[in-house]
Amino acid sequence: SLQGYESFMIKEIRESWGAVKDTISGLMEDSANLGKAVKALDKARRILIVAAGTSYHAGLIFATRLLRAGKTVIPIIASEHDTVKSGQDDVVLVISQSGETMDSLLALKDYKAQGSFIISLTNTLGNSISSYSNVSLHTRAGPEIGVAATKTFTSQVGALLLMSSLLLGENLDYLKEAENVVSSSFSKSIGYAEKIGIEISRKQSVYYLSKGIGVPMAMEGALKIKEIAYIHSEAYPAGESKHGPIALVERDFPVIFINTGEHVEELRNNLKEMESRKARAYVISAGVEIKSDTEVKEILVNVSDQRLAPLALAPPLQLIAYYAAKERGTNPDRPRNLAKTVTVR
Ligand code: M6R
Repeated sequence: SLQGYESFMIKEIRESWGAVKDTISGLMEDSANLGKAVKALDKARRILIVAAGTSYHAGLIFATRLLRAGKTVIPIIASEHDTVKSGQDDVVLVISQSGETMDSLLALKDYKAQGSFIISLTNTLGNSISSYSNVSLHTRAGPEIGVAATKTFTSQVGALLLMSSLLLGENLDYLKEAENVVSSSFSKSIGYAEKIGIEISRKQSVYYLSKGIGVPMAMEGALKIKEIAYIHSEAYPAGESKHGPIALVERDFPVIFINTGEHVEELRNNLKEMESRKARAYVISAGVEIKSDTEVKEILVNVSDQRLAPLALAPPLQLIAYYAAKERGTNPDRPRNLAKTVTVR
């Protein structure tokens, strides 16, 4: 039930830090399965990541971390999996909140038939995807009613940070702050997110720009606003915007910069380019500010470790979409044309 909240979406965003905590501790307690998964990923010739929508964005964060460490990783949108063949030395990681997404399940079955080892990360027990997997891991976000994935996404990111850190031999201490980083980001950013959401609710189109590990976060922010506020949005690597997208930017065109604290100098230059075209820029920074010399509004959410930046950026991006939808009077829990679980091809 709504328990006094206006919508499941806001309730579930507020549940996201507890969900991240439960996910990380739950996976650590499930150490036998987690160990099996990490061992298989470590031995893999290639890691294929298969998912759809929001789950795909979580997968891209995992992919970015591993690619930077020199691993061979191929992120694949489930419905496009025909473009990549797998083999016996490959390990496939299927990420799906519901565990029932048809595109992801069909990809899994094809890759299994091609001889690959299958690991899944789902948020429910006894779902189809986990039943076909060699190792099934779980996020522990609890049931998510809102069609827009919020706490399940943040939990997937938490799970994938843990898995990538194990794979890369990193010390896990930084994850102890995961819950705190998400909750304090929520409190710190809610006012600014509401303001951005209200301003953007009157616009036709918005860009989300970032660099590096922030690009999948930009993609997720753009998906959220599209699906629940029905505002056209696109996400780009900031450097790519000058190769075409900037043509649309004119006075007051909204551009949201997502700053994970890396590549700050480059982002500052991209921000200047946008401002010189009189764009309406907003900056959401985790850990390190861009500090533009112009009037642009910037909010800084704290991270105790830069690796937690994607977790810290999730609440403001979800809240922007929530407040834009609210301002437009649309129901954030039941966006038109969408189903919580897409069981058709
Ligand atoms: O259940 P899944 O994670 O497999 O769902 C995949 C997508 O349909 C899903 O993430 C969708 O993009 C979200 N509901 C968007 O908020």
